[in-house]
Amino acid sequence: MKIAFVGKGGSGKTTLSSLFIRHLATAGAPVVAVDADINQHLGTALGLEEAEAAALPAMGDHLALIKDHLRGTNPRISSTETMIKTTPPGEGSRLLRAHGDNPVYDACARPVELDGGAVRLMVTGPFTDADLGVSCYHSKTGAVELFLNHLVDGRDEYVVVDMTAGSDSFASGMFTRFDITFLVAEPTRKGVSVYRQYKEYARDFGVTLRVVGNKVQGPDDLDFLRSEVGEDLLVAVGHSDWVRAMEKGRPPRFDTLDVTDRAALRTLQAAADATYPARDWEHYTRQMVHFHLKNAASWGNERTGADLAAQVDPGFVLTEGVTAGV
Ligand SMILES: Nc1ncnc2c1ncn2[C@@H]1O[C@H](COP(=O)(O)OP(=O)(O)OP(=O)(O)O)[C@@H](O)[C@H]1O
Ligand SMILES: [Mg+2]
Repeated sequence: MKIAFVGKGGSGKTTLSSLFIRHLATAGAPVVAVDADINQHLGTALGLEEAEAAALPAMGDHLALIKDHLRGTNPRISSTETMIKTTPPGEGSRLLRAHGDNPVYDACARPVELDGGAVRLMVTGPFTDADLGVSCYHSKTGAVELFLNHLVDGRDEYVVVDMTAGSDSFASGMFTRFDITFLVAEPTRKGVSVYRQYKEYARDFGVTLRVVGNKVQGPDDLDFLRSEVGEDLLVAVGHSDWVRAMEKGRPPRFDTLDVTDRAALRTLQAAADATYPARDWEHYTRQMVHFHLKNAASWGNERTGADLAAQVDPGFVLTEGVTAGV
């Protein structure tokens, strides 16, 4: 299951992703945690020391390796140089699972021990000015998009991505790559304005979007969120002493998390799991092709000097049944 946490800066994306990841880990499920946010804090939110987090390998530094592995023997992708972030898999491409080992995980993922067991953590690497607002041939999130487009994930295994609700993900189609997107919103007009923007993009692409209220302090806050986002409000979380203690560098045992917060995390998991029966791999593949053609026409063809539309394998559908060529 592919799950994104988005929202405006400071809304609590990293906090809630990290709690959700900890929750999934206690169930013993395979979890890949991905930090694709502009501010890279997921590692420390999962309990790494600053120095450990800073030493994590950056996906952005391994783009060539990622592309080279994923393109495999796909004859439509003639070189790593012509593979862009939206290049879809086809016959001969190598696919990834959430569990198991592969060269992408070897290069980019590191285990993080949590109370329930270890999860894999991958980070895009810190963003620079050059990463923002450009049509990103070398985009940091491009590595994540390639990963998601080559991932055949089943039930009971989870990829959780901490990301912004930024223009990069809308341009490339990354926002359509998830079974469910949790939009973290504080009960403020700014918090809710990001929801409106996201909702508009999401509507046209059948994105399952649910709002998670954060720092919700009472009935007034809850009423505000309900009146602004209506049925899309899934659950609300208040101020957490557990999180505060963690931020002081004294992480309590996860099972001491407030019962209402634990219930909220179960609600998130149930909402994610409930999307599984409606999964449509054909639609998923068609969307990645749609965004690839769009990116090819708008900048990719020019940048690579190749006709990137020819990379599309018309007969290929990504599905769980397809096994990865190793
Ligand atoms: N429910 C909560 N209880 C207590 N503190 C919280 C809660 N949610 C968020 N915080 C605190 O608010 C701050 C911002 O949260 P966080 O870093 O998760 O937001 P973010 O959306 O990831 O921000 P950024 O856009 O900077 O990445 C952090 O200091 C975090 O500890
Ligand atoms: Mg963050």
